[in-house]
Amino acid sequence: MIYFDNSATTKPYEEVLDTYLKVNRDFYGNASSLHNFGGRAEGLISKAREQIANLIGVKTSEIIFTSGGTEGNNLAIKGVALKYRGRGNHIITTSIEHPSVLEPCRQLEQMGFDVTYLPVNSEGIVSVDDVEAALTENTILVSTIHVNNEIGSIQPINEIGQLLSRYSKVIYHIDHIQGAGKIPLDLYGNSVDLCTFSAHKFHGLKGSGFLYKNQGVRLDPQVTGGNQEQKIRSGTENTGGIVAMAKALRMELLAQKEKGNTLQQISEFLFYELMKLPQIIIHSPRNGAPHIVNFSVIGHKGEVIVHALEEEGIIVSTTSACSSKENTPSSTLLALGVNEDIAKSAVRVSLSYENTMDEAQQFMKALHEVLERLNKVMRRKK
Ligand SMILES: Cc1ncc(COP(=O)(O)O)c(C=O)c1O
Repeated sequence: MIYFDNSATTKPYEEVLDTYLKVNRDFYGNASSLHNFGGRAEGLISKAREQIANLIGVKTSEIIFTSGGTEGNNLAIKGVALKYRGRGNHIITTSIEHPSVLEPCRQLEQMGFDVTYLPVNSEGIVSVDDVEAALTENTILVSTIHVNNEIGSIQPINEIGQLLSRYSKVIYHIDHIQGAGKIPLDLYGNSVDLCTFSAHKFHGLKGSGFLYKNQGVRLDPQVTGGNQEQKIRSGTENTGGIVAMAKALRMELLAQKEKGNTLQQISEFLFYELMKLPQIIIHSPRNGAPHIVNFSVIGHKGEVIVHALEEEGIIVSTTSACSSKENTPSSTLLALGVNEDIAKSAVRVSLSYENTMDEAQQFMKALHEVLERLNKVMRRKK
């Protein structure tokens, strides 16, 4: 099998699985317990927190463990809105966010908050001038995706961060879930206050993630109970998942150094080969993230291509995993100005450092064959 659906989820690294198993077998105590056995689990979590903080260049106390990206985004957005509502009720985001950002924003609108959804250009990039123009004296939060999960466009985090550093009352949150280990991000240098990560996107395990929270920012807790994670996120810590996540992040950042060029070459090969096919329209920008290539095959639904490729042993997806079964055109593609029919024909190839050029060549060969077959069937129907 050739696995090209890494933006939906990645295959856990073998070492990550070993770590998870070992921690759960040998250190299954509750990290909050009084006894030393629980204390060992707490020690492992502290070490993982320190490793993660070092890897992303922030303080240990600024890491809040969560169950993943959806929870991290909910905590950041609702946590800020509810904590700072006395300061203002305006939130700015973009029209191409993941549902785990859009839905909390819609929920907040029902509660009386005012949300601006900024448009993007045809390459899926928001304008910094639009962000500035949207700021009002009531703005408390700006939340932008870093790397878009469907097309791989990269938002100008640096410029938005610089702009917002002049507005001390505005908190800046980034959804970095697709960027982690792929596109470098200097959190302090770009004045980012909150940043969401999810382990299963970098070969860690589903159900673990973390939120970077600058020490100056306060959050209204969204999951309350036993007061774990600085009283911001209650619930018995997922010791195995957390320790495995620290390992996965370290391995992913190492892979970025060692295999970053290869990933770029594979991406360029795919762009080049796909562009040769007159039936294909590429939606991903050329200067986007190297691991995502989104394109439409004119005349065929995306799901037909996905199933036909699966028969050839190649796993790709239509849009994002969470909306791919809804049979609605991708809202990200519509926001780029792509028409509905073309948007329904979209296919997303998403790579990891585990993929090879040989796999990309096999993919192109299979795609040619699939298209030839499907075109023949279509001609016969006409
Ligand atoms: C950009 C982005 N944000 C948030 C999420 C949600 O993360 P999780 O699956 O860990 O809940 C995803 C997952 O696809 C994503 O791609």
